[in-house]
Amino acid sequence: MKVAVIGCGYVGTSTSIAFAMYDHTVVAIDNDMGKIKKLKQAVLPFYEAGMEETLQKLVKDGTLSFTTDMKEAITQCDVLFIAVGTPSSSDGSADLSHVEEVAQQIGKTMESYKVVVIKSTVPIGTCDKIKKIIKNELEKRRLALSFDLVSNPEFLREGKALYDALHPERIVIGCDTKKAQKIMQELYKDIKTNILFVSNKDAEMIKYASNAFLATKISFINELARICEKIGANIIQVAKGMGMDSRIGFQFLQAGIGYGGSCFPKDIKALLTLASENGNPLHILQAVASVNQTQTDWFMEKVQKAIGPLSGKRIAVLGLTFKPETDDIREAPSLKIIDYLIKEKAFITAYDPKGVEHVKKLYPAIHYTFTPLEALQKADAALLVTEWKEIVNIDWQNAKHIMSQPFVFDGRNALNSSEMLTFGYHYVGVGTPH
Ligand code: UGA
Repeated sequence: MKVAVIGCGYVGTSTSIAFAMYDHTVVAIDNDMGKIKKLKQAVLPFYEAGMEETLQKLVKDGTLSFTTDMKEAITQCDVLFIAVGTPSSSDGSADLSHVEEVAQQIGKTMESYKVVVIKSTVPIGTCDKIKKIIKNELEKRRLALSFDLVSNPEFLREGKALYDALHPERIVIGCDTKKAQKIMQELYKDIKTNILFVSNKDAEMIKYASNAFLATKISFINELARICEKIGANIIQVAKGMGMDSRIGFQFLQAGIGYGGSCFPKDIKALLTLASENGNPLHILQAVASVNQTQTDWFMEKVQKAIGPLSGKRIAVLGLTFKPETDDIREAPSLKIIDYLIKEKAFITAYDPKGVEHVKKLYPAIHYTFTPLEALQKADAALLVTEWKEIVNIDWQNAKHIMSQPFVFDGRNALNSSEMLTFGYHYVGVGTPH
């Protein structure tokens, strides 16, 4: 099939690669000329392990091409995926202007039946809105062409994007006609997984509900971690014991310094706004957001309690990205920690394998290092913020000798606490006895 994917961000690029790998001919479109120029040369505009090699092969084979010419792609392809960004507006709702612009363009350009698929995360009811925009444009052209709107939300994780796109645990397709359902079935025929066909609105809600539920698990365990510390219980053991019940499961019960990234914070804000607008506030989700908002302060207060005033202290921030295996720093807990340290007038040394360039733009005055050991040099304390293997696998036994004081605050419970204590560290995890 001929597939157009409009928007070459994370989701768009991963989707394009996955469909090209499943033998569809894919044209990916973006209005950012610089991005398209890079992609044409098989260079990814973001870091994702293993993806660039696959991209090179697909570009060489000609199964995947890139362009800024949306009109041509719309005319040539039968299925049009919209995968443009939906950032947060100032009131917390999702800003749909990019999605709407693409819809207008489709209505202005199409000459035959199209299946228009929304991949971007959008509020419930967006498919109806987009349908109207396209219809309106067709009416202006006095054309009675038919088309279908499908909601096909994306569940891939950064850092595992290609794997998730190729081996999804489920595919959710919200579509209201048999014709579109058949085309979507054909599109996904080589992916062996469960496909759930639902209405447009159900699919839109499944996306938000899934992210909201995962974030709820994280904030639940983080809040529990706070009380575990008070009473001397260990959240790692508690999570293990809970997870052994398959109804609960082990995943997303890793206590830490809170969730970040381009999805959870934004989607939760959007769902909360949508719920209030509909006169039905979501109380549990409000608490989820509030626990997450305060988790870094809670962590930093522990640091301050253990080592005293931070002013003039040399603090090593280990890890800047919102999670390992990505260069994404959007809504990363590290940024809140850096703000806290700056406010307290600490001297910051920071290390990250992939995120330094982005953080440098926001905080040019911090001392960035090329290795984790350089960051630890003469440090009064180390804060493990992102559990990159380069950080977890530091030779901690010897690193102690280059630090001024042996304080390690592990914001991800990623290190072996008993080993750290044996090495002579004052080691503090999240929700663990110390
Ligand atoms: C998330 C979802 O997992 C994907 O299914 C979804 O498709 C994606 O959002 C999206 O909506 O596009 P992602 O943001 O890439 O994916 O990252 P996650 O692996 O879910 O992690 C999110 C945050 O939660 C990270 O900061 C991570 O450190 C934190 N986290 C995760 C915890 O603090 N504890 C956990 O147990 C798990």
